[in-house]
Amino acid sequence: MTRSQRIYLYLFWLIAFGFIQVNGSYKFNALVCDLRAPELGIIKQCNIKAIDRKHNMINIEALFNKTISEFSIHFIMVKRESGGWHPFMYNISMDICKFFRNPRKFFIPNLIYSFMKSFTNVNHSCPYKAGADLSLLNWTPDEDGVIAKFPVDHGQYGLQTTWYINKIVAIKINGSVLFFK
Ligand SMILES: *[C@@H]1O[C@H](CO)[C@@H](O)[C@H](O)[C@H]1NC(C)=O
Ligand SMILES: *[C@@H]1O[C@H](CO)[C@@H](O)[C@H](O)[C@H]1NC(C)=O
Ligand SMILES: *[C@@H]1O[C@H](CO)[C@@H](O)[C@H](O)[C@H]1NC(C)=O
Ligand SMILES: *[C@@H]1O[C@H](CO)[C@@H](O)[C@H](O)[C@H]1NC(C)=O
Repeated sequence: MTRSQRIYLYLFWLIAFGFIQVNGSYKFNALVCDLRAPELGIIKQCNIKAIDRKHNMINIEALFNKTISEFSIHFIMVKRESGGWHPFMYNISMDICKFFRNPRKFFIPNLIYSFMKSFTNVNHSCPYKAGADLSLLNWTPDEDGVIAKFPVDHGQYGLQTTWYINKIVAIKINGSVLFFK
């Protein structure tokens, strides 16, 4: 995280805790997975499943038939405003192999990962052997935990991600979540 990102985050938390009522719940409302490098593998599932009227969960699973020795992600967070998506807070590129060597060095990615940790097997450094089935299953992040750490205003937020495998654009995944009262 750069110095300006750190300051932004700090200011954001001050403002958020000071002026916004932190309550409500959220629901995933879109998920799209686009395999850009079919030579690397297949996407087995990419869906949102309902739990009840107010809650749902995400399933993403991909099977790779090549050994992954370099693995990185670029993601931006966006917020829906006046009919369009606008960059919001995070625009981060990171090397996943490096991340897992020392997650504590990467504050925001580690915070996000902490909400996925028990739902995914993408949890170690490289390599991921050929035949690896990588997944994020039945993912319903702890609502109170997320809202405490990311006390955002009500609205619709998206995460646009690009996954690079062995330096190739392998998969693009976009998801969005509705945060409501
Ligand atoms: C994700 O959103 C970005 C920006 O709107 C778009 O360029 C990209 O094609 C989307 N990817 C998928 C898989 O929908
Ligand atoms: C990997 O999977 C793709 C798509 O299923 C297939 O075309 C390709 O032959 C496979 N490669 C290997 C090395 O198994
Ligand atoms: C994200 O950051 C990269 C590198 O700094 C920049 O090129 C890109 O335009 C940024 N994207 C957005 C949506 O702000
Ligand atoms: C990674 O995930 C797998 C499957 O859930 C689990 O068996 C393994 O213990 C995890 N490894 C680490 C380092 O957390």
